Amino acid sequence: MDRRTFLAAGSIAATAPLAGWPALSSTATGATAAANSAHPHPPVNFWSDGLGLGPVDYAAQLQEAARTGAWSPDSYSNGGLVADIERAFAQRLGKPAAVYLPSGTLANHLAVRTLAGAGRRVLVQAESHLYNDSGDGAATLSGLNLVPLAKGRATLSVEDVAPWVERSSGGRVPNEVGVISVESPVRRLDHAMADLEQTGRLSRFARERGIRLHLDGSRMFNLPLHTGRSVADVAAMFDTVYVSLWKHFNGTAGAVLAGDEATIAGLSHVRRMFGASLPQAWPTLALVPLHLPRYEDDYARAWGAADRLIALLEASGRFSARKVENGTSRFHLSAPGADLDALAGRAAQHGVLLPGGPPDATAFAMQVNPSLLHRPPEAISQALLASLDA
Ligand SMILES: Cc1ncc(COP(=O)(O)O)c(C=O)c1O
Repeated sequence: MDRRTFLAAGSIAATAPLAGWPALSSTATGATAAANSAHPHPPVNFWSDGLGLGPVDYAAQLQEAARTGAWSPDSYSNGGLVADIERAFAQRLGKPAAVYLPSGTLANHLAVRTLAGAGRRVLVQAESHLYNDSGDGAATLSGLNLVPLAKGRATLSVEDVAPWVERSSGGRVPNEVGVISVESPVRRLDHAMADLEQTGRLSRFARERGIRLHLDGSRMFNLPLHTGRSVADVAAMFDTVYVSLWKHFNGTAGAVLAGDEATIAGLSHVRRMFGASLPQAWPTLALVPLHLPRYEDDYARAWGAADRLIALLEASGRFSARKVENGTSRFHLSAPGADLDALAGRAAQHGVLLPGGPPDATAFAMQVNPSLLHRPPEAISQALLASLDA
């Protein structure tokens, strides 16, 4: 299967790269992809947070970025491209400092480990990555007790945390809450987002009590479209904020953790203690500065395309779509009576890559990302309708 996912040439010119960075050149655009592809356009994928680049396309774009980029390699994850990225994200997030880490898992861990101080209890959402997908890493490696709250909900409210803050300090053995960690959007809840007003109340409540706040903002660059608030505005409610470099920004791995100077200062050394200072991080990161300045605009246009696609598919009477309450990047698409596996197989032949799911799934959990801009919604709709029947 051809998985070329180069950017559409038209939108590349629309957004300026970071200062000192070249725009993506025409050799890294759809023109080259089309020439080498079985399809006249690079594919549209509905499964990833970003372009979903495969090895061949990533290697081609990496070569282009290395040839034309005004950057130098890092050394053990210090300086060069890594420092450029740390500065760029700190600035966008409105924080004085940022540190690169090779995974979001480590970013969340080091954030709560650093913020906790003497308060070893950490209040988290029950559905968060930190609670569900990191083993008991924070307990095993850093002696922190994670308390899961707000089961099944994206918003962690003052009402959720207040009884625990009281119980922790007023217990027979006082055991203060040191940190509250919030994830938004929440991956395990179809990328639903936390209510920002409630989060603001939570932030004020915590600050009045000297409790520190961390945001797992892995996908937070999707929030401005759905909330009307900038990423810096959201970040201001938290002491530390983590953003993934491989979800929206097409790195192959990596994270930044932003915060004040005092919190971030020593973390490059802690990173090394955890064996996580990659000797050369640049090959995983070279595309990030090209996508950072344009991502929010691309994502907004991708949702414009998705809305048109949904309207076309529903008008056909063969598909129905459901959006997520307080949702961000996901909608569910069902095709009553169709064999979803067979449909996905045929759609792939048309260059439209649908997400996999559990065997009993009755709908596709569709991810909206900038690859939707590779083809007009009319063409995507035609491809899906043509894939319904063998
Ligand atoms: C919400 C959230 N937080 C943290 C992570 C961890 O990121 P990484 O895979 O870079 O360790 C993920 C990964 O998918 C995630 O979805």
